[in-house]
Amino acid sequence: KQRVFSGIQPSGNLTLGNYLGALKRFVDWQDNGIETIYCMVDMHAITVWQDPEALRRQTRELAAGFIASGLDPQKSILFNQSQVSGHAELGWIFNCVARMGWMQRMTQWKDKAGKNTQNASLGLFAYPALMAADILVYHATHVPVGEDQKQHVELTRDIAIKFNHDYKVDFFPTPEPVIEGAATRVMSLRDGTKKMSKSDPSDASRINMTDDADAIAQKIRKAKTDPDGLPSEAEGLEGRPEARNLVNIYAALAEVSVDDVLRDVGGKQFSEFKPMLADLAVAKLSPISTEMARLMQAPEEIDAILRNGGDKARAIAEPILKKTYDIVGMVR
Ligand code: TYM
Repeated sequence: KQRVFSGIQPSGNLTLGNYLGALKRFVDWQDNGIETIYCMVDMHAITVWQDPEALRRQTRELAAGFIASGLDPQKSILFNQSQVSGHAELGWIFNCVARMGWMQRMTQWKDKAGKNTQNASLGLFAYPALMAADILVYHATHVPVGEDQKQHVELTRDIAIKFNHDYKVDFFPTPEPVIEGAATRVMSLRDGTKKMSKSDPSDASRINMTDDADAIAQKIRKAKTDPDGLPSEAEGLEGRPEARNLVNIYAALAEVSVDDVLRDVGGKQFSEFKPMLADLAVAKLSPISTEMARLMQAPEEIDAILRNGGDKARAIAEPILKKTYDIVGMVR
């Protein structure tokens, strides 16, 4: 049986990268009638310092972003991670299954820990084991993510395999990363070789889901490009990361292929293409940000949705966790 799980950190601005790489994909799975579980991973967020009030606000804002993007709490399970203690419990067991060397190889750890790894939190190092627990505590089979999370989902598979091997069971499934669409890696608007990120110090590098129409248009107008016009075929984007990024974003927003976009805009200058992209982005994103702002007026309703989602998630996780404790040899 197919079961989908994915998560997003409530650690700051929700970006266009999160939307195209993750949220928009999440909605596709939900609407295909498959069981879907989506999580605001607040316990992952605190692997780097989060101001408590800001964390609360960002968690609600992320939940509002999910709902405004089309996630329906009746169809999908929406909740924040800390409400289901099974994530942390299974995460501990996986800390004992995973090896230090596996964690050390993670590119996100290398990027986030910086040079002075001695000063990074222990949680940041163990982060992927908790992520494996998020997925496996539901026996999820499919994990829609952006390109940057592929390595973590592969590590999740390694943890499942090692657990099954060490305990001589066939218990945890090996989940598949699902990385689809034209925008699996949305790049910074200032540097086409860097990922668009909520933690980039430059706000001009990203489009936030809460940006208004003027901000979106201005960021796209100022986006870095090269001096050439748009090619008519995808090969013409080779070695032009900024051009490729803008075309990918256009294709993902318009829900057409890159070839289709280039058939229409090939030969145009960026001065002509950028306003088209800005109009499209505003048309797609402004209903979402308007709805987010409306939902944020009633935080208690958001909290109730997350509580309810937590109850549903717990009901799935508990028997799996109980069985895990049995396998490991814990007296209950
Ligand atoms: P996070 O919070 O950094 O990002 C959430 C999702 O958005 C995708 N994404 C992008 N996709 C395309 N282009 C971009 N520029 C871009 N930036 C972010 C990410 O790939 C991700 O799918 N470790 C995860 C959260 C997590 C998780 C999980 C995910 C925790 N437990 C279990 C899946 C399953 C993270 O930090 O994502």
